[in-house]
Amino acid sequence: MASRGPGGLWSLLPWAVALLLAVEMALALPEICIQCPGSVQKLSEVARYCKQTPNLTLQARCCLNQKGTILGLDLQNCSLKDPGPNFTQADTAVIIDLQANPLQDDLANTFHGFTQLQTLVLPQESRCPGGIEAWYTVTYYKDTQTCQGQRNLCNSTRHPGTCPENGSCAPNGPGLLKCVCADGFHGYKCMRQSSFPLLMFFGILGSTTLSISALLWGTQRRKAKAA
Ligand SMILES: *[C@@H]1O[C@H](CO)[C@@H](O)[C@H](O)[C@H]1NC(C)=O
Ligand SMILES: *[C@@H]1O[C@H](CO)[C@@H](O)[C@H](O)[C@H]1NC(C)=O
Ligand SMILES: *[C@@H]1O[C@H](CO)[C@@H](O)[C@H](O)[C@H]1NC(C)=O
Ligand SMILES: *[C@@H]1O[C@H](CO)[C@@H](O)[C@H](O)[C@H]1NC(C)=O
Ligand SMILES: *[C@@H]1O[C@H](CO)[C@@H](O)[C@H](O)[C@H]1NC(C)=O
Repeated sequence: MASRGPGGLWSLLPWAVALLLAVEMALALPEICIQCPGSVQKLSEVARYCKQTPNLTLQARCCLNQKGTILGLDLQNCSLKDPGPNFTQADTAVIIDLQANPLQDDLANTFHGFTQLQTLVLPQESRCPGGIEAWYTVTYYKDTQTCQGQRNLCNSTRHPGTCPENGSCAPNGPGLLKCVCADGFHGYKCMRQSSFPLLMFFGILGSTTLSISALLWGTQRRKAKAA
């Protein structure tokens, strides 16, 4: 038997480093990938996408690229009423599967900022976020439906003049828009000038919030005057 000298131990070093890296990667996995037990279902669309695209790996419920960015998320059959607060970690995803969950209510707000999403699998009874007009193709199956290809609503005739003169419209997830102020402008309606660029957000949901706050601000002011 050859004795295990220091040389033998040194030869183990690369393995130890590899093991540590693997452990670290597993620990660094975004919460959304591990909050539902199990892994991506073998026959799911997410698994198929991950295997046919180069340089992607399946980990827990996610399909990740080499930098650890989430490109696919399979949360099917997780007893979810809603995807939860950590769902925004998956806003880089191209494909998401939420089938076989008792999802509730409107999903519109859930997909804020999910601009990369191309394929979304939902339970039959849910509605594609943003409605049918936000997607190129909506397909109904026995137990599921698939929403595919986000439409850019920025130049749809239904939302003309959404953005002010010195702002431009950009997609912000299914059925959602945002206005990006031109360089050097910021604030409400991009009317204030400054030396640094800032974003101004208002989409279909944002504009309601904005008008409510304007209303509250108005009444508060009147109260203050009366007092
Ligand atoms: C995959 O990764 C390898 C090594 O990092 C790289 O050379 C190759 O270009 C990548 N392929 C794609 C399609 O990104
Ligand atoms: C969902 O998960 C349960 C166990 O948690 C399993 O018994 C059932 O077969 C699964 N359903 C589907 C459609 O995968
Ligand atoms: C969301 O992530 C945080 C850490 O960022 C974690 O503490 C929390 O438990 C997660 N929430 C859910 C519902 O998994
Ligand atoms: C939509 O807007 C983009 C720029 O915002 C423009 O390049 C494109 O031609 C427009 N498409 C249509 C159909 O108007
Ligand atoms: C937009 O920018 C131009 C100069 O670039 C300025 O003259 C104009 O007043 C701005 N419009 C608004 C509504 O702020």
